[in-house]
Amino acid sequence: MEKYIVKGGGKLSGEVVVSGAKNAVVAILPATILSDEPCVIENIPSISDVTITLQIMSEMGAKIRMINKTTVEIDTRPLQNMPIPYEKAKLMRATTYFLGTLLGRFHSAHVSMPGGCNLGDRPIDQHLKCFSALGAQCELDKGMINLRADKLIGNQIFFDKNSVGATINGIMAAVKAEGLTIIENAAKEPHVVDLANCLNSMGADIIGAGTDVIKIRGVKELHGTTYSVIPDQIEAGTFMAAAAATRGNLLIKNVIPKHLEPITNKLLKIGVQVEQYDDAVRVIGGDNYVGTTIKTQPHPGFPTDMQPQMAAVLTCARGTSMVTESIFDNRFRYVDELRRMGANISVEGRVAVIEGVDQLKCAPVKATDLRAGAALIIAALSAEGTSEIYDIFHVERGYENMEIKLKSLGANIVKASEPDPNNEVSQKKAI
Ligand code: EPZ
Repeated sequence: MEKYIVKGGGKLSGEVVVSGAKNAVVAILPATILSDEPCVIENIPSISDVTITLQIMSEMGAKIRMINKTTVEIDTRPLQNMPIPYEKAKLMRATTYFLGTLLGRFHSAHVSMPGGCNLGDRPIDQHLKCFSALGAQCELDKGMINLRADKLIGNQIFFDKNSVGATINGIMAAVKAEGLTIIENAAKEPHVVDLANCLNSMGADIIGAGTDVIKIRGVKELHGTTYSVIPDQIEAGTFMAAAAATRGNLLIKNVIPKHLEPITNKLLKIGVQVEQYDDAVRVIGGDNYVGTTIKTQPHPGFPTDMQPQMAAVLTCARGTSMVTESIFDNRFRYVDELRRMGANISVEGRVAVIEGVDQLKCAPVKATDLRAGAALIIAALSAEGTSEIYDIFHVERGYENMEIKLKSLGANIVKASEPDPNNEVSQKKAI
């Protein structure tokens, strides 16, 4: 097990380059299963979610070649349609995307229900609603989702709930279906648009991605492509929050400012300076922030994946802030950890009320999920003293070289190994 040791109090300064978007790449890589020719995907981040996805595809028979650190060539023509067991599905929720892509290519798919999640209830009923609307039989057997269709026929689908995953899975299942599929109440996140653009570069016929209504006209085959993944909106936002919390001055490069608008607007509101350029933003922290209200919403609203990081900044904003989490029913597990650092936060259901304090204090804390871990790093960077952050495997799922990038910005952070409390051998070693 590994941990970060962070000595807080320093201001971050310098330049950082944002990597490719995790939530786009975990959809785009499986989408290459739909292609009848090899694909080259560029700007992929080296994070464990990518490693797991490529491992699953390679075990199914795909030919995978890393051209360089951020570019992969994938030939899925030899790929066989194999079940994806719980041991793999529990590692990453995005394994659900194999349902849509395998159904789209083979008219059948067998993927384990995704594991439990630290964000609360995350059903996949809208995914299954979409698959059955296209003509698939869906059954759950011993924890496995089994999809089967004689053929896939385009249909009109209205999502009862705005769902990124269901929208992505619906697009992938429909691109080779017969006829027209119309998805209404579709998610509009940048990574949905990125997937649609990638599939269109392979010869798909998708219009309306990024709006509430996406139309997909089925095509017989998809050719290869060379496609570059968009920059990670949430990684960029995380560095913006880190600059604000440490009162630093950061130039964050390789971003799409439009994707950052909801985050930029909130930082400006509390008193942070943000300068926008074509493909970069500069964030200049101030001495005093005022509290604000945040309500997470589907894009283009304030992203739920930035909620913990923004809360970490607000712990030291003057006055009272209110953070409402309207997407997930349990995304405040990090609050207990921030309280250990002296934050004054009370949580009632989906609302956290934050009373600003002068400065957080160091403490040993534990990451409960990917973005909670990012929030704890931000808190530790601004806190007095040296904190230890455990269970950083969560962070490494979605942030490429987090401690290396932070160190290059002047952060006093090191990664150290921590004896696994459940493993006596390592404790003996530790002794
Ligand atoms: C994606 O998860 C992201 N993950 C999440 O990012 C992100 O928080 C979320 O979208 C919202 O933006 C990836 O892209 C890999 P949803 P997803 O389906 O697709 C409910 C991160 O930190 N729902 O949009 O699972 C669901 O319970 C991760 O990078 C249903 O009720 O999210 C939730 O309350 C965390 N039925 C809401 O909709 C369904 O069939 C939004 O979920 C599907 C979802």
